[in-house]
Amino acid sequence: MKRIAVFTSGGDAPGMNACVRAVVRTAVYHGIEVYGIMRGYSGMIKGEFVRLDSASVANTIQKGGTILKSARSQKFQTREGRQQAFDQLVNNGIEGLVAIGGNGTFTGASLFEEEFGIPTVGAPGTIDNDLYGTDYTIGYDTAVNTALEAIDKIRDTADSHDRCFFVEVMGRDSGYIAMPCAIGGGAEIVMIPETQMSTEAVVESLKSSWRRSKTSFIVVVAEGEEEGNAHTVAQRVKEAIPQLDTRVTIIGHIQRGGAPSAADRLLASQIGIAAVEGLLNGMHNVMAGIVDRKLVYTPFSDTINKKKLINQSFMRMVEILSV
Ligand code: F6P
Repeated sequence: MKRIAVFTSGGDAPGMNACVRAVVRTAVYHGIEVYGIMRGYSGMIKGEFVRLDSASVANTIQKGGTILKSARSQKFQTREGRQQAFDQLVNNGIEGLVAIGGNGTFTGASLFEEEFGIPTVGAPGTIDNDLYGTDYTIGYDTAVNTALEAIDKIRDTADSHDRCFFVEVMGRDSGYIAMPCAIGGGAEIVMIPETQMSTEAVVESLKSSWRRSKTSFIVVVAEGEEEGNAHTVAQRVKEAIPQLDTRVTIIGHIQRGGAPSAADRLLASQIGIAAVEGLLNGMHNVMAGIVDRKLVYTPFSDTINKKKLINQSFMRMVEILSV
């Protein structure tokens, strides 16, 4: 393999730049040419390729966002779009790909490789941490710390005014961000899609805390929560306990920005190296990840289809610690 390309796709995540940097420098280290594809699959279709060298990624390890930009491409979901992307790669002599992104990115990568045979290794880059085949995804640690910092601040004002805050965190269909935020932020309740906590149960729990003389409360709600979003849940709770002074905070895209944490920079660097060396060793259609501190390559099909289960004992921790 003489020339590879790297791209970032889907929602950006802190540490993506650290991963791009590791990919570029590992390629340079092994004497391979490396290109960056701008704006993910959309740029691949349009042929937005940029030659990268060691200096191109200097001063990027600490930066949030992605220097390669990101996009979610509708066109790549069509056979015609993928054909155009393939033609662009062939015209530019690209022999292998490193795809940094989440589930949607790997669904596209897997199909693309099966259709056109360009070897691809994935790097898990998403704040959601919802990918099977790695204990942590790049960006997750930073996002959790960002959300936690916000929750600490909310707690100050919740406490001063004796209020109940419903704080919505990101995570698409999973409670991976919500859970450590609830435990680390000392929340009374956490609502995640993986468990069925009804609004009635939330009401009962708040009433019981109230009886134990608690006067302020934090309820962390994952955005994918089946009972509804933070506004809906807050409204229902308010109807059931009118004397409760409720407020809602949606932390939102703040969770996607900012300088990556030390853990994310380390993970991104490990994975970036592993992705390139995996490609050079003949790996393809797989995602590089770290499981139990060991480097593993998981087939895209497993990453996409298998569910990474959340540790149920965490729910119990929230219950015990909020007593
Ligand atoms: O996948 C990352 C993520 O931030 C999810 O947590 C969230 O559901 C989604 O992306 C938001 O996407 P967008 O930035 O397109 O609104």
